[in-house]
Amino acid sequence: MTEPVNVTVTGAAGQIGYALLFRIAAGEMLGPDVPVRLRLLEIPQAVAAAEGTAMELDDCAFPNLAGVEIFDDPVKAFDGVNVALLVGARPRGPGMERADLLEANGGIFGPQGRAINDGAADDVRVLVVGNPANTNALIAASNAPDVPATRFTAMTRLDHNRALSQVAAKTGTPVADIKRLTIWGNHSASQYPDLFRADVGGRPGADVAADTAWLTDEFIPTVAKRGAAIIQARGASSAASAANAAIAHVRDWTLGTPEGDWTSAGLWSSGEYGVPEGLVSSFPVTSDGTGEWKIVEGLDIDEFSRGRIDASVAELVEERDAVRALGLI
Ligand code: NAD
Ligand code: LMR
Repeated sequence: MTEPVNVTVTGAAGQIGYALLFRIAAGEMLGPDVPVRLRLLEIPQAVAAAEGTAMELDDCAFPNLAGVEIFDDPVKAFDGVNVALLVGARPRGPGMERADLLEANGGIFGPQGRAINDGAADDVRVLVVGNPANTNALIAASNAPDVPATRFTAMTRLDHNRALSQVAAKTGTPVADIKRLTIWGNHSASQYPDLFRADVGGRPGADVAADTAWLTDEFIPTVAKRGAAIIQARGASSAASAANAAIAHVRDWTLGTPEGDWTSAGLWSSGEYGVPEGLVSSFPVTSDGTGEWKIVEGLDIDEFSRGRIDASVAELVEERDAVRALGLI
Protein backbone atom coordinates (compact mmCIF):
# COMPACT_ATOMS: atom_id res chain seq x y z
CA MET A 1 0.00 0.00 0.00
CA THR A 2 1.30 3.50 -0.82
CA GLU A 3 2.12 5.78 2.10
CA PRO A 4 -1.06 7.61 3.25
CA VAL A 5 -1.40 11.34 2.64
CA ASN A 6 -1.56 13.23 5.94
CA VAL A 7 -4.55 15.58 5.90
CA THR A 8 -4.93 17.91 8.88
CA VAL A 9 -8.31 19.57 9.37
CA THR A 10 -8.63 22.32 11.96
CA GLY A 11 -12.01 23.09 13.51
CA ALA A 12 -12.76 19.43 12.87
CA ALA A 13 -15.68 19.31 15.33
CA GLY A 14 -17.41 22.28 13.70
CA GLN A 15 -20.14 22.32 11.08
CA ILE A 16 -17.85 22.41 8.05
CA GLY A 17 -15.60 19.78 9.60
CA TYR A 18 -18.53 17.42 9.93
CA ALA A 19 -19.52 17.94 6.30
CA LEU A 20 -15.91 17.61 5.12
CA LEU A 21 -14.25 14.69 6.89
CA PHE A 22 -16.44 11.89 5.57
CA ARG A 23 -16.03 13.02 1.98
CA ILE A 24 -12.25 13.24 2.34
CA ALA A 25 -12.20 9.76 3.87
CA ALA A 26 -14.35 8.47 1.00
CA GLY A 27 -11.68 9.60 -1.47
CA GLU A 28 -13.52 12.52 -3.01
CA MET A 29 -10.70 15.01 -2.44
CA LEU A 30 -7.52 13.20 -3.43
CA GLY A 31 -8.89 10.34 -5.49
CA PRO A 32 -10.62 7.07 -4.69
CA ASP A 33 -7.42 5.02 -4.50
CA VAL A 34 -5.33 7.36 -2.36
CA PRO A 35 -5.04 6.34 1.29
CA VAL A 36 -5.45 9.23 3.74
CA ARG A 37 -4.63 9.68 7.39
CA LEU A 38 -6.89 12.26 9.00
CA ARG A 39 -5.52 14.46 11.74
CA LEU A 40 -8.13 16.52 13.53
CA LEU A 41 -7.13 19.68 15.37
CA GLU A 42 -9.54 21.23 17.84
CA ILE A 43 -9.49 23.43 20.89
CA PRO A 44 -9.47 21.40 24.14
CA GLN A 45 -13.20 22.04 24.83
CA ALA A 46 -14.16 20.48 21.47
CA VAL A 47 -11.86 17.44 21.58
CA ALA A 48 -14.65 15.21 22.92
CA ALA A 49 -16.89 16.16 19.99
CA ALA A 50 -14.01 15.44 17.59
CA GLU A 51 -13.66 12.04 19.22
CA GLY A 52 -17.31 11.38 18.44
CA THR A 53 -16.71 12.26 14.79
CA ALA A 54 -13.68 9.95 14.76
CA MET A 55 -15.88 7.12 16.07
CA GLU A 56 -18.30 7.72 13.22
CA LEU A 57 -15.45 7.75 10.73
CA ASP A 58 -14.38 4.37 12.09
CA ASP A 59 -17.93 3.11 11.72
CA CYS A 60 -17.93 3.92 8.01
CA ALA A 61 -15.05 1.43 7.47
CA PHE A 62 -13.69 3.51 4.59
CA PRO A 63 -11.22 1.28 2.73
CA ASN A 64 -8.70 4.10 2.18
CA LEU A 65 -8.85 5.69 5.61
CA ALA A 66 -5.53 4.78 7.15
CA GLY A 67 -6.24 6.31 10.56
CA VAL A 68 -7.72 9.21 12.50
CA GLU A 69 -5.80 11.12 15.16
CA ILE A 70 -7.04 13.98 17.33
CA PHE A 71 -4.96 16.86 18.64
CA ASP A 72 -5.33 20.07 20.58
CA ASP A 73 -1.77 21.15 19.81
CA PRO A 74 -1.00 22.57 16.35
CA VAL A 75 2.66 21.53 16.56
CA LYS A 76 1.64 17.88 16.75
CA ALA A 77 -1.30 18.18 14.36
CA PHE A 78 0.83 19.65 11.56
CA ASP A 79 3.83 17.37 12.00
CA GLY A 80 4.38 15.74 8.60
CA VAL A 81 1.20 17.24 7.12
CA ASN A 82 0.77 17.12 3.33
CA VAL A 83 -2.62 18.84 3.02
CA ALA A 84 -3.79 21.32 5.66
CA LEU A 85 -7.36 22.57 5.72
CA LEU A 86 -7.55 25.50 8.12
CA VAL A 87 -11.24 25.69 8.89
CA GLY A 88 -11.37 26.55 12.60
CA ALA A 89 -11.51 30.27 13.21
CA ARG A 90 -12.90 32.73 15.66
CA PRO A 91 -16.36 33.90 14.57
CA ARG A 92 -17.34 37.51 15.02
CA GLY A 93 -19.09 37.89 18.40
CA PRO A 94 -21.52 40.58 19.59
CA GLY A 95 -19.91 44.00 19.67
CA MET A 96 -16.68 42.74 18.09
CA GLU A 97 -15.03 45.14 15.65
CA ARG A 98 -13.20 43.98 12.54
CA ALA A 99 -9.85 44.68 14.23
CA ASP A 100 -10.85 42.47 17.20
CA LEU A 101 -11.70 39.69 14.78
CA LEU A 102 -8.41 40.07 12.92
CA GLU A 103 -6.49 40.04 16.20
CA ALA A 104 -8.32 36.96 17.54
CA ASN A 105 -7.65 35.11 14.31
CA GLY A 106 -4.04 36.25 14.28
CA GLY A 107 -3.76 34.34 17.56
CA ILE A 108 -4.86 31.21 15.70
CA PHE A 109 -3.29 31.52 12.25
CA GLY A 110 0.09 32.88 13.42
CA PRO A 111 0.89 29.82 15.57
CA GLN A 112 -0.60 27.47 12.97
CA GLY A 113 1.60 29.05 10.27
CA ARG A 114 4.65 28.56 12.50
CA ALA A 115 3.72 24.95 13.20
CA ILE A 116 3.35 24.30 9.46
CA ASN A 117 6.68 26.02 8.85
CA ASP A 118 8.47 23.83 11.38
CA GLY A 119 6.79 20.48 10.93
CA ALA A 120 4.99 20.11 7.60
CA ALA A 121 6.12 17.82 4.80
CA ASP A 122 8.03 19.47 1.95
CA ASP A 123 5.05 19.22 -0.38
CA VAL A 124 2.55 20.80 2.05
CA ARG A 125 -0.47 22.57 0.55
CA VAL A 126 -2.67 24.78 2.70
CA LEU A 127 -6.24 25.91 2.16
CA VAL A 128 -7.64 28.52 4.54
CA VAL A 129 -11.42 28.40 4.90
CA GLY A 130 -11.85 30.15 8.28
CA ASN A 131 -12.77 33.81 7.93
CA PRO A 132 -11.51 36.35 7.12
CA ALA A 133 -9.99 33.69 4.87
CA ASN A 134 -7.72 35.82 2.66
CA THR A 135 -6.13 37.69 5.53
CA ASN A 136 -5.90 34.57 7.69
CA ALA A 137 -3.98 32.95 4.81
CA LEU A 138 -1.73 35.99 4.67
CA ILE A 139 -1.06 35.69 8.42
CA ALA A 140 -0.31 31.96 8.19
CA ALA A 141 1.97 32.40 5.15
CA SER A 142 3.81 35.29 6.78
CA ASN A 143 4.53 33.10 9.79
CA ALA A 144 5.93 30.30 7.62
CA PRO A 145 9.01 31.83 5.97
CA ASP A 146 10.46 28.45 4.94
CA VAL A 147 7.35 27.36 3.03
CA PRO A 148 6.75 28.97 -0.39
CA ALA A 149 4.00 31.59 0.10
CA THR A 150 2.18 30.21 -2.95
CA ARG A 151 1.38 27.06 -0.94
CA PHE A 152 -1.00 29.10 1.26
CA THR A 153 -4.35 29.65 -0.44
CA ALA A 154 -7.73 31.06 0.62
CA MET A 155 -11.07 29.63 -0.39
CA THR A 156 -13.15 31.54 -2.94
CA ARG A 157 -14.35 28.37 -4.67
CA LEU A 158 -17.69 28.62 -2.88
CA ASP A 159 -18.19 32.10 -4.35
CA HIS A 160 -17.19 30.71 -7.76
CA ASN A 161 -19.79 27.93 -7.47
CA ARG A 162 -22.43 30.40 -6.31
CA ALA A 163 -21.73 32.55 -9.37
CA LEU A 164 -22.01 29.51 -11.68
CA SER A 165 -25.39 28.66 -10.20
CA GLN A 166 -26.73 32.19 -10.55
CA VAL A 167 -25.70 32.37 -14.22
CA ALA A 168 -27.21 28.94 -14.85
CA ALA A 169 -30.50 30.06 -13.30
CA LYS A 170 -30.57 33.33 -15.26
CA THR A 171 -29.75 31.84 -18.67
CA GLY A 172 -31.04 28.28 -18.44
CA THR A 173 -27.54 27.04 -19.34
CA PRO A 174 -26.38 23.87 -17.58
CA VAL A 175 -23.65 24.58 -15.04
CA ALA A 176 -21.33 22.22 -16.93
CA ASP A 177 -21.53 24.50 -19.99
CA ILE A 178 -20.49 27.68 -18.18
CA LYS A 179 -16.74 28.27 -18.30
CA ARG A 180 -14.17 30.79 -17.21
CA LEU A 181 -16.10 32.73 -14.58
CA THR A 182 -13.83 34.48 -12.11
CA ILE A 183 -14.06 35.67 -8.52
CA TRP A 184 -11.61 38.52 -7.93
CA GLY A 185 -10.45 40.01 -4.63
CA ASN A 186 -11.59 39.23 -1.12
CA HIS A 187 -13.95 36.52 0.19
CA SER A 188 -16.27 39.23 1.48
CA ALA A 189 -19.12 41.37 0.24
CA SER A 190 -16.59 43.42 -1.77
CA GLN A 191 -15.64 40.46 -4.01
CA TYR A 192 -16.17 40.80 -7.75
CA PRO A 193 -17.77 37.89 -9.61
CA ASP A 194 -16.71 38.54 -13.21
CA LEU A 195 -18.85 37.36 -16.09
CA PHE A 196 -17.15 39.39 -18.85
CA ARG A 197 -14.52 36.78 -19.66
CA ALA A 198 -16.85 33.81 -19.31
CA ASP A 199 -18.38 31.51 -21.90
CA VAL A 200 -22.03 30.75 -21.19
CA GLY A 201 -23.01 27.77 -23.30
CA GLY A 202 -21.16 29.19 -26.33
CA ARG A 203 -22.40 32.74 -25.72
CA PRO A 204 -19.91 35.41 -24.57
CA GLY A 205 -20.40 36.23 -20.90
CA ALA A 206 -20.27 39.92 -21.86
CA ASP A 207 -23.59 39.42 -23.73
CA VAL A 208 -25.22 38.11 -20.56
CA ALA A 209 -23.59 40.90 -18.56
CA ALA A 210 -25.05 43.45 -21.00
CA ASP A 211 -28.23 43.27 -18.90
CA THR A 212 -26.63 45.81 -16.58
CA ALA A 213 -29.58 46.07 -14.19
CA TRP A 214 -29.41 42.32 -13.57
CA LEU A 215 -25.59 42.42 -13.39
CA THR A 216 -25.26 45.20 -10.84
CA ASP A 217 -28.50 44.86 -8.88
CA GLU A 218 -28.90 41.08 -8.81
CA PHE A 219 -25.98 38.95 -9.94
CA ILE A 220 -23.07 40.68 -8.20
CA PRO A 221 -24.84 41.37 -4.87
CA THR A 222 -26.51 37.94 -4.78
CA VAL A 223 -23.15 36.18 -5.12
CA ALA A 224 -21.25 38.57 -2.87
CA LYS A 225 -23.85 38.51 -0.08
CA ARG A 226 -24.86 34.86 -0.37
CA GLY A 227 -22.97 33.92 2.79
CA ALA A 228 -25.00 36.43 4.81
CA ALA A 229 -28.26 35.25 3.17
CA ILE A 230 -27.49 31.65 4.16
CA ILE A 231 -26.77 32.71 7.75
CA GLN A 232 -30.06 34.60 7.79
CA ALA A 233 -32.00 31.60 6.45
CA ARG A 234 -30.27 28.77 8.30
CA GLY A 235 -29.27 30.52 11.48
CA ALA A 236 -25.75 29.23 10.83
CA SER A 237 -23.22 29.81 8.10
CA SER A 238 -22.93 27.63 5.03
CA ALA A 239 -21.41 24.26 5.87
CA ALA A 240 -22.08 21.54 3.27
CA SER A 241 -21.53 23.92 0.36
CA ALA A 242 -18.35 25.24 2.01
CA ALA A 243 -17.06 21.70 2.54
CA ASN A 244 -17.93 20.85 -1.06
CA ALA A 245 -15.96 23.87 -2.27
CA ALA A 246 -12.95 22.98 -0.09
CA ILE A 247 -12.89 19.49 -1.58
CA ALA A 248 -13.14 20.88 -5.12
CA HIS A 249 -10.33 23.38 -4.43
CA VAL A 250 -7.87 20.75 -3.20
CA ARG A 251 -8.95 18.20 -5.81
CA ASP A 252 -8.36 20.63 -8.69
CA TRP A 253 -5.11 21.89 -7.16
CA THR A 254 -3.67 18.40 -6.94
CA LEU A 255 -5.38 16.65 -9.88
CA GLY A 256 -5.83 19.58 -12.31
CA THR A 257 -8.54 21.82 -13.76
CA PRO A 258 -10.43 20.81 -16.92
CA GLU A 259 -8.99 21.87 -20.30
CA GLY A 260 -10.50 25.16 -21.52
CA ASP A 261 -11.75 26.22 -18.13
CA TRP A 262 -10.39 27.84 -15.02
CA THR A 263 -11.57 28.26 -11.45
CA SER A 264 -11.06 30.83 -8.68
CA ALA A 265 -8.79 30.70 -5.66
CA GLY A 266 -7.22 33.16 -3.25
CA LEU A 267 -3.51 33.14 -4.06
CA TRP A 268 -0.45 35.07 -2.95
CA SER A 269 -0.08 37.90 -5.46
CA SER A 270 3.18 38.57 -7.26
CA GLY A 271 1.63 41.76 -8.65
CA GLU A 272 -0.66 40.15 -11.25
CA TYR A 273 -3.45 42.38 -12.54
CA GLY A 274 -2.24 45.27 -10.41
CA VAL A 275 -2.90 43.44 -7.12
CA PRO A 276 -0.08 44.50 -4.79
CA GLU A 277 2.52 41.84 -4.18
CA GLY A 278 2.03 39.88 -0.97
CA LEU A 279 -1.76 40.13 -0.75
CA VAL A 280 -3.79 36.93 -0.86
CA SER A 281 -6.40 37.80 -3.47
CA SER A 282 -8.78 35.73 -5.58
CA PHE A 283 -7.73 35.26 -9.21
CA PRO A 284 -8.64 33.08 -12.18
CA VAL A 285 -6.46 30.00 -11.78
CA THR A 286 -5.62 26.73 -13.48
CA SER A 287 -3.70 23.68 -12.41
CA ASP A 288 -2.17 21.12 -14.75
CA GLY A 289 -2.26 18.38 -12.13
CA THR A 290 1.30 18.86 -10.93
CA GLY A 291 0.07 20.48 -7.73
CA GLU A 292 0.74 24.12 -8.58
CA TRP A 293 -1.88 26.80 -9.15
CA LYS A 294 -1.15 29.17 -12.04
CA ILE A 295 -2.82 32.55 -12.29
CA VAL A 296 -4.33 32.96 -15.77
CA GLU A 297 -2.39 35.77 -17.36
CA GLY A 298 -2.98 38.25 -20.16
CA LEU A 299 -6.71 38.87 -19.72
CA ASP A 300 -7.96 42.28 -20.89
CA ILE A 301 -9.78 43.89 -18.01
CA ASP A 302 -12.57 46.30 -18.95
CA GLU A 303 -13.10 49.52 -17.02
CA PHE A 304 -16.15 48.32 -15.07
CA SER A 305 -14.33 45.21 -13.89
CA ARG A 306 -11.18 47.19 -13.10
CA GLY A 307 -13.13 49.43 -10.71
CA ARG A 308 -14.71 46.45 -8.96
CA ILE A 309 -11.42 44.56 -8.63
CA ASP A 310 -9.67 47.65 -7.28
CA ALA A 311 -12.39 48.17 -4.66
CA SER A 312 -12.07 44.64 -3.31
CA VAL A 313 -8.27 44.78 -3.39
CA ALA A 314 -8.43 48.07 -1.45
CA GLU A 315 -10.25 46.16 1.31
CA LEU A 316 -7.49 43.53 1.32
CA VAL A 317 -4.92 46.31 1.66
CA GLU A 318 -6.84 47.68 4.66
CA GLU A 319 -6.95 44.24 6.29
CA ARG A 320 -3.23 43.70 5.64
CA ASP A 321 -2.42 47.10 7.14
CA ALA A 322 -4.56 46.28 10.18
CA VAL A 323 -2.82 42.96 10.87
CA ARG A 324 0.55 44.59 10.22
CA ALA A 325 -0.29 47.29 12.79
CA LEU A 326 -1.19 44.51 15.25
CA GLY A 327 2.22 42.91 14.66
CA LEU A 328 0.67 39.73 13.25
CA ILE A 329 2.68 39.74 10.01
P1 NAD B 1 -18.08 26.22 13.60
O1 NAD B 1 -18.16 27.28 14.64
O2 NAD B 1 -19.19 25.24 13.45
O3 NAD B 1 -16.74 25.39 13.80
C1 NAD B 1 -15.52 25.99 14.01
C2 NAD B 1 -14.69 25.02 14.83
O4 NAD B 1 -13.38 25.57 14.92
C3 NAD B 1 -15.21 24.83 16.25
O5 NAD B 1 -15.40 23.44 16.48
C4 NAD B 1 -14.09 25.40 17.11
O6 NAD B 1 -13.93 24.68 18.33
C5 NAD B 1 -12.90 25.24 16.20
N1 NAD B 1 -11.76 26.10 16.51
C6 NAD B 1 -11.76 27.36 16.97
N2 NAD B 1 -10.50 27.78 17.18
C7 NAD B 1 -9.69 26.78 16.84
C8 NAD B 1 -8.29 26.59 16.86
N3 NAD B 1 -7.46 27.56 17.29
N4 NAD B 1 -7.78 25.40 16.43
C9 NAD B 1 -8.59 24.43 16.02
N5 NAD B 1 -9.94 24.54 16.01
C10 NAD B 1 -10.47 25.69 16.40
O7 NAD B 1 -17.82 27.01 12.23
P2 NAD B 1 -17.99 26.47 10.74
O8 NAD B 1 -19.38 26.69 10.29
O9 NAD B 1 -17.40 25.11 10.63
O10 NAD B 1 -17.09 27.55 9.96
C11 NAD B 1 -15.70 27.60 10.16
C12 NAD B 1 -15.13 28.85 9.51
O11 NAD B 1 -15.31 28.81 8.08
C13 NAD B 1 -15.77 30.17 9.95
O12 NAD B 1 -14.73 31.12 10.11
C14 NAD B 1 -16.65 30.55 8.78
O13 NAD B 1 -16.87 31.94 8.73
C15 NAD B 1 -15.78 30.08 7.64
N6 NAD B 1 -16.44 29.91 6.34
C16 NAD B 1 -15.72 30.24 5.23
C17 NAD B 1 -16.28 30.08 3.98
C18 NAD B 1 -15.51 30.44 2.73
O14 NAD B 1 -16.10 30.37 1.65
N7 NAD B 1 -14.23 30.80 2.78
C19 NAD B 1 -17.56 29.56 3.86
C20 NAD B 1 -18.26 29.20 5.01
C21 NAD B 1 -17.70 29.38 6.26
C1 LMR C 1 -19.93 32.14 3.43
O1 LMR C 1 -19.49 32.69 2.41
O2 LMR C 1 -20.90 31.37 3.43
C2 LMR C 1 -19.27 32.43 4.75
O3 LMR C 1 -17.99 32.94 4.54
C3 LMR C 1 -20.12 33.40 5.52
C4 LMR C 1 -19.62 33.60 6.92
O4 LMR C 1 -19.51 34.80 7.31
O5 LMR C 1 -19.37 32.63 7.63
